[in-house]
Amino acid sequence: MKKLSKVVALSLTAALAASVLGACGSSDKKTETAAAESAAETEAAQAAEGVSLEDNTLVAGTNAEFPPFEYVAGQGVIDEFDGIDMAIIKQIADDNGWNVKINNMEFDSLSVALKNGQINCAIAGMTITDERKEEITFSDPYYTATQVMIVPEDSTIASAKDMEGKKISVIQGYTGETVVQELGYQYDSFKKGADAVLELVNGKCDVLVIDSATAEQYVKENKGLKIVEDPEAFANEQYGIAVQKGDDALLNAINASLKKMQEDGTMDKIIAEYMDKTE
Ligand code: ARG
Repeated sequence: MKKLSKVVALSLTAALAASVLGACGSSDKKTETAAAESAAETEAAQAAEGVSLEDNTLVAGTNAEFPPFEYVAGQGVIDEFDGIDMAIIKQIADDNGWNVKINNMEFDSLSVALKNGQINCAIAGMTITDERKEEITFSDPYYTATQVMIVPEDSTIASAKDMEGKKISVIQGYTGETVVQELGYQYDSFKKGADAVLELVNGKCDVLVIDSATAEQYVKENKGLKIVEDPEAFANEQYGIAVQKGDDALLNAINASLKKMQEDGTMDKIIAEYMDKTE
């Protein structure tokens, strides 16, 4: 709960600052923003109608091996689970008056768990892809990422092409695996990002391809590594929350809440808080 109250405290401070600024600046602007915010709130409240959850509890699937989006901490924002996605889904549940429970599983299992109703939604830094859209439905995007390469500090790899003939690691089922496959290179796949990073630190592989924010986190936590970007080889990816196909009521409630968070600054605050944090 400690972290949640920090987020709330931050929002309050920002709201206060905004109203003080508003008071000596343009009051029209302030009224407009307030109107837009309360419209989004009403929309969010209306969207929640028609969602039926067992025990009024939203069961969200994740794979808590993906800092800063989801990881296990001593005390997280939801039980032992912490990170950007956990704060987002907690806020969505709060907006709608739901309880929230996390079901931590392998990343690869999330789609199936959704399809067989084991979870109501999946929030896992999940990239919206056409292939996945055949199986599940995604919310509006809430974060833009890209694949990057993590290499030892003295590596000569400067672009995706330089990976040719090198010992490449990816994480099983992540979009990074698809990207390396499409480039036509051989690779080893790991179950967990942390294990692949260890291989890199121990000099057992040359490069790990993984999402940008997670890469930053790993480089912060481990000495002797650096990030290499190649925007020409790696396109932007958008993260979305997944629901079962046809679950429009839940989808609408999630989208309305995401929109509210984007408009009132909560989303930026959550992201900034967890990007700065080093556990
Ligand atoms: N964005 C990548 C993907 O969709 C990686 C996501 C990994 N997420 C996780 N919680 N392990 O494939």
